[in-house]
Amino acid sequence: MQLRVVGDQPWDVPADVLVVPIVGQPAFEGPLGELNKRAGGELAAMAAFGEFKSDRYATVLAASGELAAGRVLAISAGEPDAITRQVIVRLGSTVERRLAGRTVRSMAVWLSDLGAHVQGGAEAVAELVARGVVEGQFEPATIYRTDYKGAPPELDELILVAPGANSAALLNAAERGVIIGEGANLARRLDNRAANDVTPEVLAGEARALAEKYGLSIDVLDPARAAELGMGMFLAVGSGSDNPPRMIVLRSGAEGAKDAAGRRLALIGKGVCFDSGGISIKPAASMEEMKMDKTGACTVIAAITTVARLAPGTPLTVIAPAVENMPGSHSARPGDIVKAMNGKTVDIINTDAEGRLILGDALCYAEKLGATHMVDIATLTGAVVRALGDQMTGAFGTPQAWYDEVATAGERAGERYWQLPMIEEYRPGLDSHYADFTNTGPADGGIIRSALFLREFTTVPWVHLDIAGTAYFRKKTPYAPAGATGVSHATLVELALTGAIRSA
Ligand code: BES
Ligand code: MN
Ligand code: ZN
Repeated sequence: MQLRVVGDQPWDVPADVLVVPIVGQPAFEGPLGELNKRAGGELAAMAAFGEFKSDRYATVLAASGELAAGRVLAISAGEPDAITRQVIVRLGSTVERRLAGRTVRSMAVWLSDLGAHVQGGAEAVAELVARGVVEGQFEPATIYRTDYKGAPPELDELILVAPGANSAALLNAAERGVIIGEGANLARRLDNRAANDVTPEVLAGEARALAEKYGLSIDVLDPARAAELGMGMFLAVGSGSDNPPRMIVLRSGAEGAKDAAGRRLALIGKGVCFDSGGISIKPAASMEEMKMDKTGACTVIAAITTVARLAPGTPLTVIAPAVENMPGSHSARPGDIVKAMNGKTVDIINTDAEGRLILGDALCYAEKLGATHMVDIATLTGAVVRALGDQMTGAFGTPQAWYDEVATAGERAGERYWQLPMIEEYRPGLDSHYADFTNTGPADGGIIRSALFLREFTTVPWVHLDIAGTAYFRKKTPYAPAGATGVSHATLVELALTGAIRSA
C-alpha cells in the first residue's frame, strides 16, 4: 500500500472514496460547509436525517456530487470531548472495514481538525489513522480460505488529506503507524490460527523465521534444556501433550547492552497454544477460544519485530513460554509438587491455573538473562473478563514508578489499562501444607492472587498485563472482526521505543 499525504483541499482529491469525519453535530461551516456544498448538500442532508446522531463509528456511504472523489464515506467521531487516541485508531479501522467486499483501490482520509483533540496534533492523527486503516484490513476469515469475498479492500493507495500541514512530518508519522498496525496484524494472524496448526514447535518456527527476517537472535529451549535450568513449573504444564513445550527467546541489540533509558527490558508473553485446563479440565462451552491462550506470546513476538523495523538495534529481550495444556497420562496432576527455576516449591492444586506456572519460570529466566525491567502479558484469568470486559486490560505492577511508565506508553498507544492492587492480606490464600505456596486459592480475590503468585518470581521492576478480556473479541464491532485484537502490541512497542538507541 502506497502512502501519500496531500495538502490539497478534500474536495480536490481524486480517490475512490473520500472519508469525512463528523465531530459531534457540526454546523457545516468552513471547509466542512464547502465540502458539503460541493457534494450537493448531501452531508448536511444526512445529518438532518439523523444519520450522525447515533453512535460513534456510525458510517454513511454516499454519492459525491462534484467532489473529485468517487464516493463519500462520512463517519461519526462522536462528541469532541470523548475523542481519544484510541478513537482515532478505530475511526481508521472502521472506514476500512465498512468498505469490505467493495472495489476500492484508493482511499483518501480527510484529517479535518481531529488533531485539535489529541496530544501531538495532526502528526499523531496521521499515525493513528494509518495504523487504524492497516488494522482494519485484518480479516481472520482469510487465514484458512482463499475464496472469501467479504474481506476489507487491499488498498493500492492511502491518501491523508491535510491542507496546510507539514506533509513530510505527517508522512513519517503515518509510516510509523502502518508499521505498528502491521505488527498488530502479525500478532493477530498467528493468534487466530488453530491449535492443530500452531503447536509450540510451530510457534517457535514462526519466531525463527521472523528472527531471520528482522535480524534478531533466537534461542529455543527444548525440555532437556529447560530441565537443566530447573524450570519445573514450565515442564509440568508441558508434560501432558505429545507436542513438547518450547521456551522461545528472541533478542535484539548488542549482548548485555542497556537501552537509552538505562534498562534491559524483557517482555514475557504467555504462549499456551491450547488450554484444555489439563486434568482440571474446562467445561466444553467456549473451550475453542482457548487456542487464543497464546495471545501474550504472539504479541511479544510481533512487538520485537515491530521494534526491529522502527528502531533496529534497540536492546530488547522477548521470552515466550509455549506449551499445550492437555490431560493425559503424563500430565501434571492436582496435588503435584514442582520446583520453580528460583528454587521455590509449588503445589499445583489446579492444573487450569497453568499460565502463572509457565510465566513464573519465564520471569526467572528473563532475570537470569539480565533483565532489569519486565512486563508480562497473559490471558491469565476469567475473573478479569468478568470485571473489566473486552475494552479494558487489567494491570498490576511494582514499583509504582515502573507501572506509571508502562501506563504512559499505553496512553501513547491509545490503549486502556486499569490498575489493580496487590493486596498483601490475600497472600495467605496461596498457603500450602506441602510447598512454599499453591498455584491458586479461594475464588474471592483470585485475580489479586494471580499477580501475587507471579510476583514470587520477580526481583526487579515488573508489570503484569492480564489481557484475558481484551485479547480477542467474541463478537465483531464496527472497528474489528471477532477474534484476536492485537491488544497491547502498540503499548509494548511504545515502551520499548523509549529505549531506542537511535531515534524512532
Ligand atoms: N486461560 C485461562 C484464562 C482465560 C479465561 C482466558 C477466559 C480467556 C478467557 C487460564 O489459564 C485459566 O484457566 N484461568 C483460571 C484460573 C483458575 C483455575 C484459578 C480461571 O480464571 O478460571
Ligand atoms: Mn487455564
Ligand atoms: Zn490459560
